[in-house]
Amino acid sequence: MSQISKVGVLGCGLMGSGIAQAAAAAGFTTVARDVADPLLEKGRAGILKSMGRLVEKGKLRAADRDAAAARLAFTTDMADLLNCDIVIEAVTEDLALKNALWRELDGLCPPATIFASNTSSLTIAAMAAATRRPDRFVGLHFFNPVPLMPLVEVVRTVTTSQETFDRAFAFARSLGKEAVAATDNPGFIVNLLLVPYLLDAARALERGTASTVDLDRAMQLGCGHPMGPLTLLDYIGLDTVVRIADIMFDAYREPRYAAPPLLQRMVVAGYHGRKNGRGFYDYSVDPPVPSELGLGTGVNSQR
Ligand code: 3HC
Repeated sequence: MSQISKVGVLGCGLMGSGIAQAAAAAGFTTVARDVADPLLEKGRAGILKSMGRLVEKGKLRAADRDAAAARLAFTTDMADLLNCDIVIEAVTEDLALKNALWRELDGLCPPATIFASNTSSLTIAAMAAATRRPDRFVGLHFFNPVPLMPLVEVVRTVTTSQETFDRAFAFARSLGKEAVAATDNPGFIVNLLLVPYLLDAARALERGTASTVDLDRAMQLGCGHPMGPLTLLDYIGLDTVVRIADIMFDAYREPRYAAPPLLQRMVVAGYHGRKNGRGFYDYSVDPPVPSELGLGTGVNSQR
């Protein structure tokens, strides 16, 4: 089994930059590719900020941060991914877009390069089939915030070879993560269970079951979750969750995966969560306060 030493990351948004950070911090030469310099600059700034926080907290030595930063390169040129041993894709959840990138990369990279998608809900096999290496194609699903979340789901498709799966699994562990094996069903393990729970929380708010704050507090204190479901929705991004839910609903045709009208309205109105300053909470003030969502149930003003 050949060693992985150089890692390519397609997409330098929240997930892509987190994956690039994890790879560089674990000692891999890493190159992150996105379509425009401002996107790469934003990704680089996020990585430096995150590593700075880890240094401040004593979780990363300053010398290791500097070494990790030196292992990281940023590019807009696909050809810079040419000699990577593994390429991990973390672009928008759009199959046509992803497959156009995979096709281009398939023509550039040597046959041994493993292709891995960080998709949270699309079928990995539908990407593998767009390449001439369906046996060397896996899912590697990371969790936000990547530098802190210990899990990676390693996803095997119908066509993934045992050697590729083993190498991808070992690679995930070499990033300092725990790996679990999942089959290629939309949502894998975590989103299969998490997404209906998050959608139910939005339904409960819509129905007037409890206030935003109490719904969150109940699940934090009653179940020991680090974040309540509405805070977590804001954290992941409401547009992202709706996109994932739509894909899962399309695949399973089960109402539990149908995004409730409230969530759909919020996304249309530009309430995308923490990333743009408003979602179930308004982040323009510190600490954030529950958003006025025009529910008419009065639950948010009862307390
Ligand atoms: N990089 C480095 N450090 C970070 C960081 C980052 N990106 N984000 C937060 N931190 C650090 C802070 O500096 C702080 O350090 P300290 O504990 O040593 O003081 C620590 O993490 C805690 O941060 P905060 O006080 O700001 O916030 P929290 O205490 O709420 O912790 C959290 C943040 C780790 C995100 C925690 O709330 C959590 O685990 N939340 C749940 C996240 C979750 O469920 N993620 C999965 C989402 S699903 C997904 O990603 C799948 C996709 O397909 C949708």
